[in-house]
Amino acid sequence: DADPSEEPKSGKAKSEYRNYTEGKLLDRVYNTYLLMHTHQTVDFVRKKSAEYGTCSLRKMSAMEALELLDQLVDESDPDVDFPNSYHAYQTAEGIRRAHPDKDWFHLVGLLHDLGKVLALFGEPQWAVVGDTFPVGCKVQRSVVFGDSTFHDNPDTRDPLYSTEYGMYQPHCGLENVLMSWGHDEYMYRVMKFNNFALPKEAFYMVRFHSFYPWHAHGDYLHLCTEEDLRMLPWVRELNKFDLYTKQEELPDVQQLQGYYQSLIDKYCPGQLCW
Ligand SMILES: [Fe+2]
Ligand SMILES: [Fe+2]
Repeated sequence: DADPSEEPKSGKAKSEYRNYTEGKLLDRVYNTYLLMHTHQTVDFVRKKSAEYGTCSLRKMSAMEALELLDQLVDESDPDVDFPNSYHAYQTAEGIRRAHPDKDWFHLVGLLHDLGKVLALFGEPQWAVVGDTFPVGCKVQRSVVFGDSTFHDNPDTRDPLYSTEYGMYQPHCGLENVLMSWGHDEYMYRVMKFNNFALPKEAFYMVRFHSFYPWHAHGDYLHLCTEEDLRMLPWVRELNKFDLYTKQEELPDVQQLQGYYQSLIDKYCPGQLCW
């Protein structure tokens, strides 16, 4: 069994190569979720939350964080094989075209994945990227690979956490739900800590943009309030640009930097605490 390093030009070899590389990619994605679903527990999330919630790790501007991200490859995402900052600019520019009057929303597009700097602080991929889900209650059906990845998670055997509502009251609101730890919650904390001058929709979109079981599949409604349902269209709106911009041409970052720097200066200027 050879390890083909170069794509064959044609014929059977070419399609075998495709299957081989796609298989490898899926293995990598699955493996990230297996680790995530084994280790993301209530205790783990509380620990990470305490560790990062004080934003006392380092100081840098939003632009510096964006540039740092280029050192990172997201192992949960099969679609992206270019620098992360391109994805940030593409998402922002997509939003800008559709919502020219909402400059704060353009900035959300640019910032939404900045929490991935967690990976550069030494966190494993399964504690940074990928779809999120609530810990402390039973895992619902739409959680990706959920059927085969939770068997070694101790919370699934906990008498409270394994129930439908788990540690939560019915319709307690997502703001009171402990989500699996990752770049969404971390960036939300950074935005709060540094008093970003953005509307509440902006904070909400960043905090729940990877919660696909909810915003894409309609699960976990038993934990939601009316307010969550009012926010849902915003999360879906961001998701539209987060997803489909991944296939587009690469943006001219040099040319766009001035505009986005002006938004940063307006809403989250200077050195930030991370
Ligand atoms: Fe993200
Ligand atoms: Fe994204």
